[in-house]
Amino acid sequence: MKVLVVYCSETGNTEKVARAIYEEASKDHEAHLKRIEKITEDILDDYDLVFLGSPCHSTDLAAPIKRILDAIPHSPEFKLAGFFTHATSSGGFKRWASKCILSFQETSKEKKIDFEGCYNCQGTPSPPIQEFIKREVITSAGEWEEYFEEVRKHPTPEDLQKAKEFARKVLSASAKL
Ligand SMILES: Cc1cc2nc3c(=O)[nH]c(=O)nc-3n(C[C@H](O)[C@H](O)[C@H](O)COP(=O)(O)O)c2cc1C
Repeated sequence: MKVLVVYCSETGNTEKVARAIYEEASKDHEAHLKRIEKITEDILDDYDLVFLGSPCHSTDLAAPIKRILDAIPHSPEFKLAGFFTHATSSGGFKRWASKCILSFQETSKEKKIDFEGCYNCQGTPSPPIQEFIKREVITSAGEWEEYFEEVRKHPTPEDLQKAKEFARKVLSASAKL
């Protein structure tokens, strides 16, 4: 199969996940890794499977990823899988990051895209986002310290391993069809 891993990443977290997925895809397939800024939507049709990755911005996928999803025509030939990184711990996921999953799912349903699922993990927030979270979301100093001590490690080697497992499943399911 021809596989494209395309991603948006401002501070490198989503890029780490993209590289892990690309590494897995490269084992048995012709795989290409590209930043979203380097492509236009017309190249997607050259592939059998596209992994599309984004940071979570303002509770949803980042604008360049929303734009490319919007530009995908109805019933494309390629299959789609998603991935994203976010700064939320499990208690806040529904409020602060779950829309990313919905965006992939709803667009895929609306456009009859063969959607193979979506992977997500935490990614360390940049300093301005740390300030926002500290001010607006996790306002207790103790809870903040506990949260930050954990989130600063992500994506962890285990997160990247799980991303590879996700990629492996998607690749083998797509190759069978
Ligand atoms: C402008 C902006 C808005 C963000 N909004 C959210 C959000 O609503 N929910 C969340 O969980 N993380 C949010 N984050 C944190 C990022 O999703 C997270 O740190 C991600 O791993 C960054 O990925 P990157 O390093 O690939 O850019 C936001 C980050 C930025 C820069």
